[in-house]
Amino acid sequence: MSDMLVKLYALPDVTPLSADLNERGVEIRQAQPSEKRIVAEWVRQHFTESAAAECEAAIEQRPISCFIAVEKQAGGPPRAKLYDLPPEMLLGFACYDVVSRGMFGPEGVRADRRGQGIGKALLLTCLHAMKTERYAYAVIGWAGPTEFYAEAVGATLIEGSEPGIYRGPLIGKPISLNKE
Ligand SMILES: CC(C)(COP(=O)(O)OP(=O)(O)OC[C@H]1O[C@@H](n2cnc3c(N)ncnc32)[C@H](O)[C@@H]1OP(=O)(O)O)[C@@H](O)C(=O)NCCC(=O)NCCS
Repeated sequence: MSDMLVKLYALPDVTPLSADLNERGVEIRQAQPSEKRIVAEWVRQHFTESAAAECEAAIEQRPISCFIAVEKQAGGPPRAKLYDLPPEMLLGFACYDVVSRGMFGPEGVRADRRGQGIGKALLLTCLHAMKTERYAYAVIGWAGPTEFYAEAVGATLIEGSEPGIYRGPLIGKPISLNKE
């Protein structure tokens, strides 16, 4: 799959989409250091081991370059800690500056919550963060759904970028999966 180029100086505003999602109880926010293992495990279960490792790397960076989509859970179990704030359910994630500086990805939305604007909001939030960090362009790495990126942010295919910076899989298993 090819990479795609995005002009960060011509990005659509994310505010209307974020406001619409907020009204439906969904929030896009930066992941927190304390959430690193939970986010990584969720990404491993719903997507891939490599995407999980990339999320961990993104959450370890400063500024944190992993954003997540969460839904506040009404009527969750009472909690004695964290000021009784409602628990939040993960719906999606997106990272940047992980595989290479200036690159967006990986990204994913829970299968049963796709088509609700969450993927676009995660994408736009990351790209606006990159713009704030003074990038002029972003590269969508190994862009799978090219139509989604073209329509959402005007991304264009980079000629001759396949396989680009990516390598074949490294043979072996992460420690956490060795016991299986
Ligand atoms: C790609 C992905 C993140 C999109 O998330 P999503 O929440 O479903 O996307 P949205 O609801 O924000 O879609 C925004 C628009 O893009 C369109 N769109 C979504 N996925 C699309 C796809 N695969 N191909 C073409 N258009 C797509 C939607 O129809 C919507 O159009 P609209 O604004 O006219 O209604 C999600 O499908 C996913 O997790 N896929 C599996 C993992 C993946 O491929 N990640 C990308 C790796 S590079």
